[in-house]
Amino acid sequence: MDRTDIQESLKKVPLFQGLSPRDYDPISKAMIHRKFESAGVIVHEEDLENQTFFIIISGEVHVTVLSTEGKQTILATLRPGDFFGEMSILDGEPRSATVVAAANCELLMLYRKSFLDIMQTYPKIAIHMLITMSRRLRRSNRHINTLSKMSVYGRVADVILQLANEKGERIGDMIMIHNPPTHQELAEMAGTSRETVSRILSQLRKKHYITADRKKMVVLNEEELYD
Ligand code: CMP
Repeated sequence: MDRTDIQESLKKVPLFQGLSPRDYDPISKAMIHRKFESAGVIVHEEDLENQTFFIIISGEVHVTVLSTEGKQTILATLRPGDFFGEMSILDGEPRSATVVAAANCELLMLYRKSFLDIMQTYPKIAIHMLITMSRRLRRSNRHINTLSKMSVYGRVADVILQLANEKGERIGDMIMIHNPPTHQELAEMAGTSRETVSRILSQLRKKHYITADRKKMVVLNEEELYD
């Protein structure tokens, strides 16, 4: 990826919207292009050394944490145009989570100093970042609420609706989710086991609320699933 490609990619990233065309040049100069294969660990929870910031150009990543009993939870799935790695640069603490490539990924990376220089030079970018961080906090608040209040059935349904909302394609009354997460991944999102997810999905299929195979999941009855 040469600098023109990097500039073109940056123009599509929401974080950099609203900049004047000439601003992309110095920003793209600081960016380093990186590729990660599916399942590759990009950022390690608790790491204090590698303070770098990433933007996703293609692919998908999972933000995960490990409990003391060794259970993995997926906190979020980030997609092209999303960023990660800002928290440890901003507060100087170790990495708050592990970030793993959920598919082959192309990323743009900034070292700590370049990241901080860019934030100071372009307040628009910093404000955009705060807006995204506020959205992430709201989403996490909602998730905590869901975990503590809902039955496991409700939590799995909620994860499906969230996926439909974030990456689904609406076709009439249906919502199509391409390349849905595996049962194991859905379990790590809903805070339950793979077996429970498989059981609940088969109930949802029988009720004609969803259809699902490896390549796609279709929400047939959003209203019923919501209840
Ligand atoms: P950092 O702590 O540097 O490294 C892990 C990154 O995962 C973190 O920065 C954020 O960019 C991202 N992250 C952590 N928690 C969440 C969350 N709840 N939602 C989305 N992204 C997160």
